[in-house]
Amino acid sequence: MAENQQKLIHTFGALAELGSEVSQKQNFQEMMRTSLHLLLGSLAIMRGGIARYSRYGHELNMLVMRGLGDDFPLSLSLCYEDERQFLVNDLYPIEVAQAKVLPFFQIYDQSFEKKRIELLVPLVIRDEIVGVILLGEKANGEAYSGYDKEIICAMARHIGVGIAQRNMMAELERRSDENRKLYDDLRMTYKDTVKAFAAAIDYKDKYTEGHSVRVGKYSEIIAQELGLEESEVEGVAVAGYLHDVGKLTVERNIINAPYRINAKESAELNKHPAVGYEILLPIHHPYTDVPLAAKYHHERLDGRGYPDGLYDKEIPYIAKIVNLADSFDAMTTDRPYKRRRPANEVIEDLQRNAGKQFAPELVTAFCRGMLKEVTGESKDKRFRRLLGREYMEAEGIVPILKNALNGMNATSSLTFVSPD
Ligand SMILES: [Fe+2]
Repeated sequence: MAENQQKLIHTFGALAELGSEVSQKQNFQEMMRTSLHLLLGSLAIMRGGIARYSRYGHELNMLVMRGLGDDFPLSLSLCYEDERQFLVNDLYPIEVAQAKVLPFFQIYDQSFEKKRIELLVPLVIRDEIVGVILLGEKANGEAYSGYDKEIICAMARHIGVGIAQRNMMAELERRSDENRKLYDDLRMTYKDTVKAFAAAIDYKDKYTEGHSVRVGKYSEIIAQELGLEESEVEGVAVAGYLHDVGKLTVERNIINAPYRINAKESAELNKHPAVGYEILLPIHHPYTDVPLAAKYHHERLDGRGYPDGLYDKEIPYIAKIVNLADSFDAMTTDRPYKRRRPANEVIEDLQRNAGKQFAPELVTAFCRGMLKEVTGESKDKRFRRLLGREYMEAEGIVPILKNALNGMNATSSLTFVSPD
């Protein structure tokens, strides 16, 4: 009696240990090794192994083995009949000697006999085979008792749950990978669509070819220089690409007028921010402020912009970024009635208008990005690609940029560059 009690305490101790082993998220292989060790140890079993079942390959792959030697097969195939029988058995151990009718035991008869495998425990969790446990003879040479089998069954459940959890995690990882790929594909499609739209907008305006694309890129640079998160940078770039979408409804001869347009034409043209907003609003953008950027990209900090004459803090931040990018591109490209202005002049203009038209911290970010590229501090060629190398190598551009940065009365994060 005392001996039985001791045995009971021992096996329950092992079971508890096994439970905590399986519930801890540690190395799976290590967990299986310890589980096998505990199982063999608790009933003094000479040798054994745990195999994981692959549904796709209909095979059992050995995860851990003890005392089975190098010649034991690492992969064992199951046929439909074997699987069905294992499922019926649930977690109850199958006596190898009495199961020889099954193809599985016929195929691996020699291996099992050689290693004296006596029991096979199908690991069936929620009506699915997740693996098997193979057990050799007991150290004392006795046959497995009903009590032993009960213990094995309880321990097998823990091990089976451990494998099922692992399978579930692998499946989750696979699905999240798939979702990520799907999301990336969708994002690419969205980006391509945005770029196609930008090209369509620019096509209408023959004098400002590539304007929307450039504004998208300048907006992106400003957002990057501000240190915004990647998704926000993307949103700002999209807003830049699409800011003039409302121009699609403005008559071509007004957009392409080779002279300064009159008041009536100007009123027509000035509708494009509001129209752009209407066009963009029903579209489900991954970034929320895209329609607002279109609507307010002609507002100015001093309230002298249009369509609503908003003041500084009333203007959405994203619209301020697009406004700066838009104005910069207008100044640095040839127009029908105006040549592009030299870099020095443009930078001075930005500085002069910081706090009036432009948000000073944005001008700072923009100039800082440009300065980094001109001085070689940054290896990027973002500005060079958009403006041409020569334009960026204008004489005196470095001191002018530094001067602009130092003179800026920014409302936030000003980078102070000492003049030298
Ligand atoms: Fe515009």
